[in-house]
Amino acid sequence: MNVIRYESTDSTQARAAARVAAGKQGDEPTIITAAVQTGGRGRFAREWISPAGGLWFTYIHRLREQREVEGLPLRIGLVGCECLESLAPELAEAGLAIKWPNDILAGGRKLAGVLCQQVTHDGRSFALIGMGINCNHSIAAVAPQPGAAPLRAPVTTLLELTGRSFDLEWLLAHLCHGLRGDLADHAQHGLTESVIQRIEARLAGRGEPIHITLPAGGSASGTLLGLATDGRLRIRTSSGEMLVDGGAEVGGMGDNAPL
Ligand code: BTN
Repeated sequence: MNVIRYESTDSTQARAAARVAAGKQGDEPTIITAAVQTGGRGRFAREWISPAGGLWFTYIHRLREQREVEGLPLRIGLVGCECLESLAPELAEAGLAIKWPNDILAGGRKLAGVLCQQVTHDGRSFALIGMGINCNHSIAAVAPQPGAAPLRAPVTTLLELTGRSFDLEWLLAHLCHGLRGDLADHAQHGLTESVIQRIEARLAGRGEPIHITLPAGGSASGTLLGLATDGRLRIRTSSGEMLVDGGAEVGGMGDNAPL
């Protein structure tokens, strides 16, 4: 796989979008990674603090058909959980959870985030799969500057969870290998029942109260039931069961919705 490395850049997601826009991206995946990001972005265009010691990368994946996009962010969250647990078996004991659609949580704290965006150039479409994993840095290193918006969820790192440091190149190689295999499977089969079951088994907050902000505005509250067969979130509200799709946000403000 083609890997482009930066010591420091604004955002690997922005570098990936620029690569596609310049017509430089072929059909084979490209991975763009940076030791430090100075303008890292999360879902809903929020700041993503990206100090040295974390793993920050974007995997550019050629989309052959539009239907591949369905359920893609969920699938990526699952790849992240399964891959990290296989590389650090101590994580598997408590189990990594998915906060829908694709935050990766350990013990209720955010270990990793995923941002999936779609871009098109000259009639060819690509998914920009951005992954940020808190690895070897301290938790203080991702604390917002005074006056900046507070973190929306408590954070953890691989170092805090396992007591050891990780080789970021090794992690990147395994995650990209996992992504490649699962993306090929997803392109062929989509979200199968067994994939949905694997995601649902990790879904954080099942049976608990939930508040959703909808992309078109408005919000809904109820109890989180689980996933529908297409990956939408099932919620029981006072007026019946409701299905929520990926542009929505659990517990927050919807703007600038990602895939
Ligand atoms: C989120 O939880 O809101 C998603 C966070 C995604 C962060 C990654 S880090 C690599 C890539 N570059 C970015 O600017 N964002 C993604």
